Amino acid sequence: TPSPARPRPVTVTVTGAAGQIGYAIVFRAAAGDLLGPGMPVRLHLLELPQARRAAEGTALELQDGAFPLLDGVEVFEDADAAFDGASVGLLIGARPRSRGMERAELLEANAGIFSVQGRAVNRGAAEDFRAVVVGNPANTNAYIAASHAPDVPRERFTALTRLDHHRALAQLAAATGARVDEIEGVAVWGNHSASQYPDLTHATVGGRPALEVLAGTGRDLAWVDDTFIPRVARRGAEIIDVRGGSSVASAAHAALCHVHDWVLGTAAGTWTSMAVASDGSYGVPEGLVSSFPVVCRDGRAVVVPDLELDEFSRTRIDRSVRELEEERAAVQQMGLLGPRR
Ligand code: NAD
Ligand code: LMR
Repeated sequence: TPSPARPRPVTVTVTGAAGQIGYAIVFRAAAGDLLGPGMPVRLHLLELPQARRAAEGTALELQDGAFPLLDGVEVFEDADAAFDGASVGLLIGARPRSRGMERAELLEANAGIFSVQGRAVNRGAAEDFRAVVVGNPANTNAYIAASHAPDVPRERFTALTRLDHHRALAQLAAATGARVDEIEGVAVWGNHSASQYPDLTHATVGGRPALEVLAGTGRDLAWVDDTFIPRVARRGAEIIDVRGGSSVASAAHAALCHVHDWVLGTAAGTWTSMAVASDGSYGVPEGLVSSFPVVCRDGRAVVVPDLELDEFSRTRIDRSVRELEEERAAVQQMGLLGPRR
């Protein structure tokens, strides 16, 4: 039987491609872990001038991988050129948090990058462009980029909280002795920061309410509040402390899963967590890029509707959303927002 025609390759722009996460992500993207095993990709690696050589070295290694799905690799220093024709943006390039540094301190350092890139996307990206922002503070950086790309639908700029979602799954699995694939209904709400709310109130383990299964192991609501939530929400800092640098391969893996599921759909009957531009659901102000439980179908991420929120959940979500509003007010004051509000 004749093989079906090879689809047109998708252009994927990776910013910070020579950095740690960038280096971890590009080989897996070339291997089909981003858009599936049937979709050829063309990689555009965007880097700062001082890291250009390193990105060129990465491009040589990509060539040496002889990936059947890799249609080409180009290195750029100019954002307009790098995003020209792009359908996917992996916006990773930013300065990572070092030991003891809080994310808010990163706001000013990184916000400039995302205004430039938002404008570049607006000028030349493909019609179906979609981006995940990994560089911190990821939610607000996505908001900034979207504000500079008024011609691109707002919902195409998302931020990564899939890593937090995975961390929550793994911690719940460890506490209950279940496998991660026996768990459903975990949700991460709010900001990718220590204020995030990893929510177990709708979660099930082997089809039973997670809170009930936890109670059977001697873990009560106090365990959820005092151990589980801070463990997940502060895992980034824990990794920095133990590893001596911020998370890399787990972050790259989460970003691949985020885009993969966004484009190809979440598995039937489950949801995942993504930071998306709020449509006003659950009282989150419209436009704020906040994490929600989402279902992805036909290339769209839709917030899971009509979940009941208890008072504890409401308080935790409101707290994280308040932090996002403060970050938005800060970048607005710094004059970093573009024409779309
Ligand atoms: P890194 O320092 O190893 O790499 C960052 C790269 O970005 C560097 O090579 C740098 O030259 C490049 N860069 C900086 N400004 C750029 C620009 N304007 N255009 C193009 N490239 C640029 O950092 P890393 O460990 O790869 O982390 C990258 C970012 O991801 C950090 O902000 C980190 O905090 C964040 N992060 C987010 C999550 C998440 O879950 N959302 C998880 C882990 C890390
Ligand atoms: C993480 O969650 O691992 C990253 O966002 C790094 C950090 O600064 O916490």
